[in-house]
Amino acid sequence: METVGRVSYPPSFIIEKDTEFSVSDAMIKRNVPLCIPDMDEQELAAIGAVLKSGWLAHGPMNHEFEHLFAEFLGVPHAVSLNSCASALFLAVHANGITGEVIVPSFTFVASANAIVTGGARCVFADINYEDCCVDAAHVEALITPRTEAIMPVHYAGQAADMERLSAIATRHGLKLIEDSAEAIGATQNGKQTGSWGDGAWSFYPTKNLATGEGGMLTTADGALAEKARAIAGHGVASSTWAREKKEKPWFRAATYAGFNFRMSNILAALGVVQMKKLNRMNEARRVHAAQYNAMLDQALFDLPVEMPGRKHVYQMYTIKLKGVDRTKFLAELRGQGIGATVHFDPPVHTQPFYAELCGSANLDLPVTNTIAATIATLPMYPTMTAGDVAFVANAANAAGAKHRV
Ligand SMILES: Cc1ncc(COP(=O)(O)O)c(C=O)c1O
Repeated sequence: METVGRVSYPPSFIIEKDTEFSVSDAMIKRNVPLCIPDMDEQELAAIGAVLKSGWLAHGPMNHEFEHLFAEFLGVPHAVSLNSCASALFLAVHANGITGEVIVPSFTFVASANAIVTGGARCVFADINYEDCCVDAAHVEALITPRTEAIMPVHYAGQAADMERLSAIATRHGLKLIEDSAEAIGATQNGKQTGSWGDGAWSFYPTKNLATGEGGMLTTADGALAEKARAIAGHGVASSTWAREKKEKPWFRAATYAGFNFRMSNILAALGVVQMKKLNRMNEARRVHAAQYNAMLDQALFDLPVEMPGRKHVYQMYTIKLKGVDRTKFLAELRGQGIGATVHFDPPVHTQPFYAELCGSANLDLPVTNTIAATIATLPMYPTMTAGDVAFVANAANAAGAKHRV
């Protein structure tokens, strides 16, 4: 047990983002948590080396992480950042987008927040039942002369239909900003998510690649990468590390009113190690998903569908409950030490800020509303054992049968 503040955690415990400050005794007794990041001696050694080097802020490991990430995706530019929220913000703001951006309402609120804080307007689209990603036909129907960009969200580890969405974007002259937070390594027809347009990535601990907090912006546009890098570093178009090699390392001239969105050298070192493990970690997730698929009762649940031509990397394993009381189902699992939860409810268009800003509380998004009311997330992480998966699947089948409505 490790003590953090006044709370003792089992070493394998991870708290969900929104419950960080309300950890109860019941929660810390979970024995199959929602997620455990795959960290070992390699990450410890990498962090130790950075600490000993004395260069803790944005530095050489960032360059290495960016290089590995860009190479993995097959894109020319990657900018390491403190979060995906920052990457999404930069993709909107640094692209100068001020009109309408079409985004699914069924997403984490960070997607919509970036549109608004970046200076543009949200238009909410519905999703498909099977892949839970934005419905391309609805996107096209929502395009107006004010539309400037489409922001698909690759839900839970599966690519949205990027072949169709990028054809729509090209046809209408729109920017494509991919919220790839949940889909590092997912592909459609062999092409990586986040490489069709500008990509925004998250390295939050529940993601396919974890650095604690962290994000990346990827793009084929060199000018955008340079601008985003400057805005992320106080508006100054060179990093401290790069300036050290110059004749006047003290000379810092702002070209933008910037922020500090940089990722530290410590977290970038974690990213470098995690990059080398990424394919193995994603394969492990796929094995667990196949076991869940084989064991879960399809009379009670609709299981995730890997769409033809797409590779799912199961950042989350989500099921849709059929005639099962979700609140009781989740309480039952959580009571047995299983970190089951929901992603995402409520949908963004009904959340108070957006309902008021966009007048969207009663927007007709039928698939979004159905899925938000019936979806549940089961534990998924690379180091789960077959025994863990079986324990969760059996408990889910029993809880589903017990709480039929
Ligand atoms: C779809 C989506 N977008 C954006 C984010 C935000 O990521 P970050 O916490 O790195 O800002 C998340 C992470 O929770 C997400 O799931």
